Amino acid sequence: MKNSIKSFSKARSRSSKKNKKILSIADKTIIWSEENFKDFKFLFSDSSKLNLEIGFGDGILLFDQSSNNPDESFIGIEVFETGIANTYSKIIKSNLKNLKLIQGDVAQILSKNKSKKIFDLIIILFPDPWPKSKHKKRRLLKSDFFIDLQSLLKKDGKIIIKTDWQDYAEEIIETLNKLEHKYDHICESNDLKEFKTKYEKIALKENRLINKFLIPSIGQSSSK
Ligand SMILES: C[S@@+](CC[C@H](N)C(=O)[O-])C[C@H]1O[C@@H](n2cnc3c(N)ncnc32)[C@H](O)[C@@H]1O
Repeated sequence: MKNSIKSFSKARSRSSKKNKKILSIADKTIIWSEENFKDFKFLFSDSSKLNLEIGFGDGILLFDQSSNNPDESFIGIEVFETGIANTYSKIIKSNLKNLKLIQGDVAQILSKNKSKKIFDLIIILFPDPWPKSKHKKRRLLKSDFFIDLQSLLKKDGKIIIKTDWQDYAEEIIETLNKLEHKYDHICESNDLKEFKTKYEKIALKENRLINKFLIPSIGQSSSK
């Protein structure tokens, strides 16, 4: 097991008795625990397009995307029990076959996985900003993490990241430049076309700019 600094607070992984009950009797081929997880290849064996969302929160984007794209497969990773339990209940209610969840710390999960070049798209929206200087070391998007994500991308795959935290966006730019990973960076107040997650709606209500990064797989080119 990887002994890393946690990018989430412990309170985030606790939830109600009702959600604990849902999780205790959940179908283990739909919700994988950090302990049971061995490799992404055991979740979907044959999928033309495989997408991953890390830190999906309440799961509204993940559920919308998987419901509207039945020919693609989706995996969501989250520590937040309430988000996992609610999304699981929606999967069961709508009999969705193309969405699976992994409950646990993404750092631990990636350290167990051996499969490479498997995802077409990896999405990370509004990762916890850890704004205080003394907590910045807890931010998820560090050099080693970007290297791990790149190893998971197919040749034409891409990573999408959004943050409303300017200082985090600057850290991401610095890290990607140091790694010499190409990226496109868009900073705007509101992209009317895009689906908004809970945290994007909060950011827009509080008039924060949204920094969006499109990072192609290493070897592909971008405008930067
Ligand atoms: C600020 S919330 C954003 C949620 C959602 N993406 C949105 O835009 O509404 C960040 C999420 O990342 C999750 N998270 C943070 N670190 C994580 C980790 N190491 N592994 C899995 N999930 C993590 C948190 O539990 C939280 O739900």
